[in-house]
Amino acid sequence: MINTLTKAYIFLLIMTVFSCRTDSKNVVSKVSNEAPFDVKVDSLMRLMTLQEKIGQTVMYSGGWTVTGPTVSSNNKKYIKEGNVGAMLNVYSAKGTRDLQKLAVEETRLGIPLLFGYDVIHGFRTIFPINLGLAASWDLEDIEKGSRIAAEEASAEGIHWTFAPMVDIGRDPRWGRISEGAGEDVYLGSEIAKAYVKGFQGDDLSKHNTILACAKHFVGYGAAQAGRDYHTVNMGEDELRNVYLPPFEATVEAGVETFMTAFNEVNGVPATANKFIFRDILRDEWNFNGFVVTDYTAINELVPHGFAEDEKHATKLAINAGIDMDMMSSANRLYLEELVNEGSVDETLINDACRRILLTKYKLGLFDDPYRYCDEQREKEVVYKPEFLEAARKSAAMCSVLLKNEGKGLPLNNSQTIALIGPLAKDKENIIGNWAAAGDRKGKAISVHEGIQEYLGDSKIIYAKGCEIEGDDKSEFNRAINAAKRADKVVMVMGEDYDMSGEAASRTNIKLPGRQTDLIKAIRKAVPNKKIILVLMNGRPLDLSEEDHLADAILETWFPGTSGGSGVADVLFGTYNPSGKLPVTFPRTLGQVPIYYNMKNTGRPIPPNNPKEDYKSNYIDSPNTPLYPFGHGLSYTNFEYSDVQLSATTIGSSDTLTASVTITNTGDYDGSEVAQLYVHDKVGSITRPVKELKGFEKIVLKKGESKTVSFDLTVEDLKFYNNDTFTVEPGTFEIAIKGTSDFNFEHIFTLE
Ligand code: GLC
Repeated sequence: MINTLTKAYIFLLIMTVFSCRTDSKNVVSKVSNEAPFDVKVDSLMRLMTLQEKIGQTVMYSGGWTVTGPTVSSNNKKYIKEGNVGAMLNVYSAKGTRDLQKLAVEETRLGIPLLFGYDVIHGFRTIFPINLGLAASWDLEDIEKGSRIAAEEASAEGIHWTFAPMVDIGRDPRWGRISEGAGEDVYLGSEIAKAYVKGFQGDDLSKHNTILACAKHFVGYGAAQAGRDYHTVNMGEDELRNVYLPPFEATVEAGVETFMTAFNEVNGVPATANKFIFRDILRDEWNFNGFVVTDYTAINELVPHGFAEDEKHATKLAINAGIDMDMMSSANRLYLEELVNEGSVDETLINDACRRILLTKYKLGLFDDPYRYCDEQREKEVVYKPEFLEAARKSAAMCSVLLKNEGKGLPLNNSQTIALIGPLAKDKENIIGNWAAAGDRKGKAISVHEGIQEYLGDSKIIYAKGCEIEGDDKSEFNRAINAAKRADKVVMVMGEDYDMSGEAASRTNIKLPGRQTDLIKAIRKAVPNKKIILVLMNGRPLDLSEEDHLADAILETWFPGTSGGSGVADVLFGTYNPSGKLPVTFPRTLGQVPIYYNMKNTGRPIPPNNPKEDYKSNYIDSPNTPLYPFGHGLSYTNFEYSDVQLSATTIGSSDTLTASVTITNTGDYDGSEVAQLYVHDKVGSITRPVKELKGFEKIVLKKGESKTVSFDLTVEDLKFYNNDTFTVEPGTFEIAIKGTSDFNFEHIFTLE
């Protein structure tokens, strides 16, 4: 007895086979529109040759942006042969349409291409770099920013962003710490979900939503010595308690694609690592999207010493569950031969091709391959005023006030300021690394222009003083003279945008060049004037000297296209700074790795006697960082009082509610990020001295109080103990604070 559904499938199959005999072009449109995507995909795959199926697993770069080693490839030829499934680094409605026409109108089956691009913190309207966005702790704003990025990118033919980068980063030497959400698992996981929701929206078939891509799977941020692409080796407890959770969070949020990491993980390069891609990603997490390699990563299995040659590398990658080859040409050159010689099972090719085709159906590309190539929409969407305004607000919210002694800030418009430093008038570095199709030639608002909006020209005395790099001090005197003639000094300094990002690790995390010398010279020249240091940088810096020289320090990261305006809004108090560090700023590189949730060790320093012998400390530096995770000042003050616990003992099925009253006791309205921390005092493996388990950003008018509550369940206390995920009875410390720098005062017991 053949049931109805089977009859439908048979009918579809006959229809499909019949139609392809008459017109092989665009056969895909013959499959009934009502059929579920998987039926359509299966029908299409029955018509595809092995070579055409392999073609879907191949991605080439169009070279409009260079994001890896230059590899020559005859893209148009390969596209017309049906040997390409996706392109990266091509954008604009016209640029993508031209290539899409080759795939749709000049190949046997007319399967549309996917267009991918690194839309990391904006597409044309560039938002603050991701480490800066993390400093806002504002999930709504992060989602909104990525929604805007998707609007602009999709208007220029992009279907797929290689973002969010969710690598936990704890080493400031590593240039790519700039692209992530910093050192913490909970914050990183929540932010990862916000990015996925922003990019993918709630319906991928809409023309303004794009595929997201969780990268780089996994452990990339733990590269030894902070050197990019370097070896990664860690216990399974660290892998599962620190580096995997943000990726699992993206799967929970419905991310459609994953990207492999360049690094090895415990001896096996990620791009050939069955444990992470088949056992964890597919079997444990039930991820059913597709996996793309990073740029030429299959070929790199050879220099890794894991593959004999590129053909062997191709076999290893497909066997590990990698679906698409970015820029290696490995799949195009070797997969058919590997299948024909019996080295690779054709079902693996079918699985990869099916996942990729399913994604193209979800995007609606088979209904209309040109739906993202709309030049009219492109004109209407890109650089919309509300997008630039949103970027301005993000820039303000991402700024972290690290120090503000003697009311150096906020500025007021009755004072003349000396504006000094290599980044004061900058419009190129301000949009940071990975700035997609952002403009570096003048579109961005500089800090100088932002301050001009408040002071006009007459109250600004500008002197560059020095370059970002180099030893030239010839402009110091002009800067000193400017400082002498002004009421306050604002110095805008930091890194060049390409001192962070990919292949941009540093062995020295101080301000480059002679910038610190310039601050010293100004300090000496005007010992009683307020010096406000405004920083643009892509990593935590060693600011131990600057901390003694400047009265106020504002960390703005690289604040983006509207950055100068957003920073000026903070400097003049229009926006009361609310940013909190998502990553620790060390006193010195010698402390690295240093992060807030470290282990206690068997010989912790006694709080009341830091110099006690035979303790885990240094002889030349305190253990504490210069600025801790979660730190960020405001122009007002927030007092935390009246911590309440719904119980002091809970069972495994209970929920503990912890609450605190926060009062704005200062002179400005402002936002505060209340942070919930716990400490599992005893475990079957040692536990961090504290762990962030919740946060809430609240707005308080001056004098206003609010009660903030958090619910904690045993699920929140779970950890991996090198054997299994577990929650263990015992005593937990708990606190709600505005920073990670505190001592616990409350406990509860889990029975
Ligand atoms: C680069 C980066 C990756 C990026 C890809 C495509 O090498 O590692 O993050 O998405 O290539 O540009």
